[in-house]
Amino acid sequence: SLLDVVVNNELDISGYGACEGTLTCSTCHVILSKEDYDRIPSKPLDDENDMLDLAFELTETSRLGCQIV
Ligand code: FES
Repeated sequence: SLLDVVVNNELDISGYGACEGTLTCSTCHVILSKEDYDRIPSKPLDDENDMLDLAFELTETSRLGCQIV
């Protein structure tokens, strides 16, 4: 997942991925371009959408990084 990329590369993004991909936070929220959003083969499921509803500045092309595979 995109969260794994952040963790495995030791990218210092404060607070990113606080729940370690268990879908209980929205700190991995990313806003993608429409083009990139459409290129992701997996679409958000109900659990991701429920958590996205709590994300700051939600957009039409928002995803949770831990769910992007
Ligand atoms: Fe918490 Fe993605 S890391 S929902």
